[in-house]
Amino acid sequence: MVVGRLSEEGDRLAQSAHPNEDPQTGTGARQLGTIVVKIGGSTLSSQDSSLRDVVALQREGVRPVVVHGGGKMVSDWMRRQGVRPRFVRGLRVTDGPSLDVVVAVLTGLVNKSLVAAVHGLGGRAVGLAGVDGGMIEARVADPELGRVGEVVKVDPRPIEAVVDAGYIPIVASVAISSPGGDNQAPGLLNVNADTAAGEIAGAMDAARLVMLTDVEGVFDSSRRLLPRLTRRQARQLMGSNVIAGGMVPKIGACLKALDSVSSAHIVDGRRAGALLDALADVDIGTRVI
Ligand SMILES: Nc1ncnc2c1ncn2[C@@H]1O[C@H](COP(=O)(O)OP(=O)(O)O)[C@@H](O)[C@H]1O
Ligand SMILES: [Mg+2]
Repeated sequence: MVVGRLSEEGDRLAQSAHPNEDPQTGTGARQLGTIVVKIGGSTLSSQDSSLRDVVALQREGVRPVVVHGGGKMVSDWMRRQGVRPRFVRGLRVTDGPSLDVVVAVLTGLVNKSLVAAVHGLGGRAVGLAGVDGGMIEARVADPELGRVGEVVKVDPRPIEAVVDAGYIPIVASVAISSPGGDNQAPGLLNVNADTAAGEIAGAMDAARLVMLTDVEGVFDSSRRLLPRLTRRQARQLMGSNVIAGGMVPKIGACLKALDSVSSAHIVDGRRAGALLDALADVDIGTRVI
């Protein structure tokens, strides 16, 4: 599978005359440096090419960092464990039993399955969570919503150490609470994975942030794909609720990261080679500018 996809890519690129492009991934990979890739529901639930692409990129000298969520699997396991979801103002409350499931599923089952998948593809990965090494510090965003955190501080050194050692870090978005931040002993907080990816990309001065999701990109009010999205448009579309739900933290993360990251993309992870195309600046998905 890996060879199939890459040789196809290689053929395509052999016909283009970009001297800086790598024959395998077509991304000018060596120049890229650190990239942060957020994988979402699409990659976790199906056999898309994202992890394969990440492995191929690393082989070519890119320093990929993977950040993942796993909302659907968490919901499945909550159901299995008989944990009833509670909502306040339409937002899910992360109470104690919910947090237990979030931590067990995200940092356990989902994270280690991704590590195993990378190894199955011939790559080498180390699974981490934001709590490890105190990397992602967060505080309770809204006490009514329970153990959900907003990021206060990111220390990317443990991630960098893993990258320097030749592994792909795969990071679950579970943070440690700031000391005294919520008047409790330091504990665990659930952080939105998009937000975590944006913060990590910013803290690492990554070259690129790519959000892989389960839609083509960001749609306008007529459900037409927006190839480019400016800060101002983003604010307008969020204000008018055209950008809503799971897309809101993605946009927020892209805008935050763009303070230091040169490019932030939201692309369809279900599409083969989506990550490589985004990095090669092929027209795909939405580029937030
Ligand atoms: N303007 C928009 N354009 C595209 N998707 C949108 C928009 N507004 C809301 N969405 C929703 O955001 C979802 C992506 O976020 P989410 O479900 O959290 O996926 P992920 O697992 O990738 O984080 C889309 O499936 C879509 O339903
Ligand atoms: Mg989401």
